[in-house]
Amino acid sequence: MNTMTELHLVPYPAEVSFTEGSFFLPEEGSFSDKTEDSLYRSCLPETVRGVCWILPKTEQEGDAPEGSYRLSIRPEGLEIEGTEQGIFYAGQTLRQLLVQFGGELPCLEIRDWPRFAYRGFMLDSSRHFLPKEDVKKLLDAAAAMRLNKFHWHLTDDQGWRIEISKHPELTGKGARRGRAMFADLPEPEESAGYFSREDIREIISYAAERFIDIVPELEIPGHESALLFSCPELRCENADGEPKVQINGGIFKELLCAGNEKTYPFIEEILDEYMELFPYPYIHLGGDEAVKAHWRSCPRCQAKMHALGLKDENAMQQWMVRCFADYLRKHGRHAVVWNEVLRGEALPTDIVVQMWHGDADLGGEFAERGGRIIHSSTDAYYLDYPYFVTDVSKILNFDPVPEYLKNSEQSVFGIEAPLWTERVVDLDRAAFQLFPRLPAVAERAWSPEKACGPDTFFSRYTGLQGILEEMGLRGAPEKYWKISEADKAEEFEEYERITKTPHMLRFIEEQERVLQEEIRVYGRF
Ligand code: ACM
Ligand code: ZN
Repeated sequence: MNTMTELHLVPYPAEVSFTEGSFFLPEEGSFSDKTEDSLYRSCLPETVRGVCWILPKTEQEGDAPEGSYRLSIRPEGLEIEGTEQGIFYAGQTLRQLLVQFGGELPCLEIRDWPRFAYRGFMLDSSRHFLPKEDVKKLLDAAAAMRLNKFHWHLTDDQGWRIEISKHPELTGKGARRGRAMFADLPEPEESAGYFSREDIREIISYAAERFIDIVPELEIPGHESALLFSCPELRCENADGEPKVQINGGIFKELLCAGNEKTYPFIEEILDEYMELFPYPYIHLGGDEAVKAHWRSCPRCQAKMHALGLKDENAMQQWMVRCFADYLRKHGRHAVVWNEVLRGEALPTDIVVQMWHGDADLGGEFAERGGRIIHSSTDAYYLDYPYFVTDVSKILNFDPVPEYLKNSEQSVFGIEAPLWTERVVDLDRAAFQLFPRLPAVAERAWSPEKACGPDTFFSRYTGLQGILEEMGLRGAPEKYWKISEADKAEEFEEYERITKTPHMLRFIEEQERVLQEEIRVYGRF
């Protein structure tokens, strides 16, 4: 085998060395299954189970990151060394090698470990509800690229998507909306759906088999239209308009009343159910894009803010989110929040901040105090954005360590790519948006800076692409990957056509007024 052979692997492993010769995969049935009695059997592709020696480790050695593994391919057979998670990842690498080489594998040794501990993707189940079978397919895809965190955006203005037994009204009323007007795309008359507790348990165990932890989100205090439509007693006094499950995308004024003492036990009851269902250390408490207009005009909220001696409504937002972060901490869990929650006092550093847009100054300070950051910049990681804004090359060339964290690189917990679903109506559209951009994010999250070049990504991607297509996940065609000016213009035109309808333009204008008012009052939004 030529030592210059390019391995079609994404993410590219940390270290690869070629040795002499090849290993020929035997005909089916001619080998006994060496993994027959092994716990690790299910971690490996079926075709190699009979030819793999496994050297299991019960725990990660020294300071090796979780999921590290060694994979040796020798003329006499394969050998894999690692923890169960490491063996699973070796299996994912092998699957890609099998797509490339079929029955004749080149002899080599791979030593591999992830660059970042947190390698995530987010699915917004609120704007469009993809059923559990689709969620599982996306988990399969994520596992194939060695992602290990699934941030599940379950509540938002356009639909409440998680069954809460103590408050059946949340899904009873909040999981159904009228015909969406997100854009001029075909939509059903109305959209409804939520995940039952049973569904969620099923997805948790499916994810666990793939070494993926779930970070479930409960949005606080904004993005609450669906919650407040279900439970209007938690709205502010003087709140304008009627609450409803929204049919447009965007930013709405509905937020939980901070001055209503009923708000706190209500949210705690929901968190109790989150903690009962999800056995993970982190729960996401949201905190983004909360328009404070209702708090400004609510006597109860104003009284609360003054009684607490808080400077403004942003500080009260942080205070409120911190109440629930404290609640989680008391139960041995930690909060993740969007970056807006940095505004206010110095945030406790057990809280993880997900930086998506702005607040770089506050993010830098937080990291210098020892806080951890999930990097989800809209500049590269928002996979709902069209390809003319973010093509694959842009992601590959984007530094996962932002400039404001250069002095505290260890504060980067990892990177996460959100898929917001205003314009993602089904799994096919999700696949178009995600692939091959999510694999590019996965490569930046896993591979060391110098392990691979962005230029070889496109040929290396064919192994993973074959696996995704076998799952029925067809990504964007090649012309989008490194998009030309002509194709940019074409996609831009299509984007304008569906997003700049007269209805959307009126809506955008109204949104702009609301945002400008926030900027006038607080200096940023
Ligand atoms: C966000 O995109 N509103 C976090
Ligand atoms: Zn209020």
